[in-house]
Amino acid sequence: MDDEGKIRQSLNETLIGYLDSWGLREFHDEASYYQWQQASLSQQDIRDLQLLVEQRQGGEDALADIRFYDLLAQPSLLPILYSQRFDYFLQLGLLLLPRLSSAEHVLDFGCGVGILTLLYAQHNPTIQFTGIDRSVRSIEVARCEAEKRKISNVKFEVIPPSGFAISGFYDCILSTQALFQSEQSAGLPSKNWRTFERTTDPALQEHLEVRTGLHMRLDALLKVLSPRGRLLCFEKTWNLGRRILFQRALSTRGLFPLCEPVSCAYHELGEMKSDGPVYEVSRVPLTDPLLWDEAPYPCDGETLYRCVGTRAKHMAVALGMSRSQSEVRGQHATLGRWTFRLGVWEHVLAWGWCETASGFHGVVLGSVQEQHLLLQLVKNISLLSDLEFEECVQDCWGTVLDVRQNDSMPGYENHFPSAQVIYQALPSKMIQREATFADDEGKEMHIEIGTTMILTYFYWANTFDQRQLVLMDEKGAPTLCQYYQESLDEAHRSSQEILPAP
Ligand SMILES: C[S@@+](CC[C@H](N)C(=O)[O-])C[C@H]1O[C@@H](n2cnc3c(N)ncnc32)[C@H](O)[C@@H]1O
Repeated sequence: MDDEGKIRQSLNETLIGYLDSWGLREFHDEASYYQWQQASLSQQDIRDLQLLVEQRQGGEDALADIRFYDLLAQPSLLPILYSQRFDYFLQLGLLLLPRLSSAEHVLDFGCGVGILTLLYAQHNPTIQFTGIDRSVRSIEVARCEAEKRKISNVKFEVIPPSGFAISGFYDCILSTQALFQSEQSAGLPSKNWRTFERTTDPALQEHLEVRTGLHMRLDALLKVLSPRGRLLCFEKTWNLGRRILFQRALSTRGLFPLCEPVSCAYHELGEMKSDGPVYEVSRVPLTDPLLWDEAPYPCDGETLYRCVGTRAKHMAVALGMSRSQSEVRGQHATLGRWTFRLGVWEHVLAWGWCETASGFHGVVLGSVQEQHLLLQLVKNISLLSDLEFEECVQDCWGTVLDVRQNDSMPGYENHFPSAQVIYQALPSKMIQREATFADDEGKEMHIEIGTTMILTYFYWANTFDQRQLVLMDEKGAPTLCQYYQESLDEAHRSSQEILPAP
C-alpha cells in the first residue's frame, strides 16, 4: 500500500472509532438493522417516527421537518436512527476532512446533531467552527457532545425556521444535505422529450429556486461568505434536472467550480446511494475556469442487458449471432462443450452469446460504446477453471442450471439516458404508433412503438430524463404491442395528449 493509501486507511479507522463513540453501528442489510431497531425502540417511538416521516413526505413543510429532526435527536433514538447513515458519515468525513485544513472560520449550515461538525472540529483544532440548524433539540445535543468531548473550537446556534439571520463571516461554508432539500422537486425540465438539454429561462429558474427554498438559503449563505471564501456542498443532485437547477443557482450567483465535482457514493443498509457530487465553489474563478457539466452521468455497464433461454435463442437469430467477430470455445466437465461469441449488430448493439451442450443459452447486449466490457468478459474465459467458468456465467446471467423464463421477458431493455443514444441510432426505424402527452405542470412524455430491421421497439421518454427502450424479436412483438397499449391508457388517465397539428 502506498503512503496515500496508508493515510486513508488510518483516517478510515479513526472515523470508525469516532462514529462508534456516538453509539452508531454499521449495518450491511435492512433485515438485521430493523431487527435491532425493533428490539431497541419502544412501539411508541416507532409510531411517532412513522407519523413524522409521513408528515414530512408532502414536501417543504418546515415545521414537520423540525419536528422530525427534533425526534431524531432524542438520546434514546439518536444512535439507532443515525446508524442508518453510518457509511454516509464515514465517506463524507473521508472526503471533506482533507479539504478543510486551509480554512480559518468554517460554518456548517444544517449541522444537525453535529456528528460531522464535531469530527471536523476535533481534527482541526486551529480552525473555528460554527454549526447552525433550525432543530432546537439537535443543537442541544451538539452543544452537549462538544462539552463532553472537550472540543472548544466550535459553537452551535439555532436559527429561526423562517428568515435567515446568519451572523459572522466565514472563509469556508459547508452544507451537506441541508441547502437543497425539497426532494419531491425534479428540478429543471429538459426542452422536450427528445433531449436532455435545458432552456435558459431565468424566470423558470427563479420560480423553481423559490419553490424549493434554494434561493433564500443560498442568498443567506453568500452574505456571510468572505469574497475569496469557498462553499463546499453535497446535496441530493443525482437527478439531472435537480443537478442543473442547483448548478445554475450557483452559477447565476457568480460561483465557479474550483475543481471537478467529486462523486461521493455510500451505502445505506447495504444499498448503494449516489446522491450527487461534492461541489467546491468560490466567487474567485480559476485562471482557466472549469465549465459546468450539464450532461447525464453515464454509469459503467448501464447499457448491458442479459436474457436467457428461448428469448435469448430468438434474439440470437434476429441479430444474426451466427456471424460472430470472435469466438472462444471450451469444454466443461458437466456443462459439456461451450461456445462464447461476440459481435456487433448494425453498428448499434454489441452482443455476446454463450451456449453450452447442456442446453444453456445466454445473450448479453449493450451499446457499441460499451463493447469493451464484453471483450473484457471473454478475454480470459478459455483460461478459467470449470468452477470459475460457472461463476463467470452466473455473474452474467444468474444460475446456469435454471433457465426457466417468462416469455414476456424483453430481448433488450435499457432505463438509462443511454437508451436515447441507442434509440436514435436504430437502423431502418419505422414508427407504427406514437403519442405525446403533457400534464398540468407542462411535463411532457412520449411513447412510441415501431420496427427496426426485424425487431420491434418500444420507446418511452419524458422531460425529466426518464427513458425506456425495449427491443423484441418477432415472437415477442405482440407482448410489446400490448405494453404500448397499456402505457397509452395509463398516460391518458394522468395527462392530456398533445395532438399533432392538422
Ligand atoms: C439531512 S440533515 C443533514 C445534517 C448534516 N448536515 C449531515 O450531513 O449529516 C438536514 C439538516 O438540515 C437542517 N435544515 C434544513 N433546512 C434548514 C434551514 N433552512 N435552516 C437551518 N437548518 C436547516 C435540518 O434541521 C437537519 O438537521
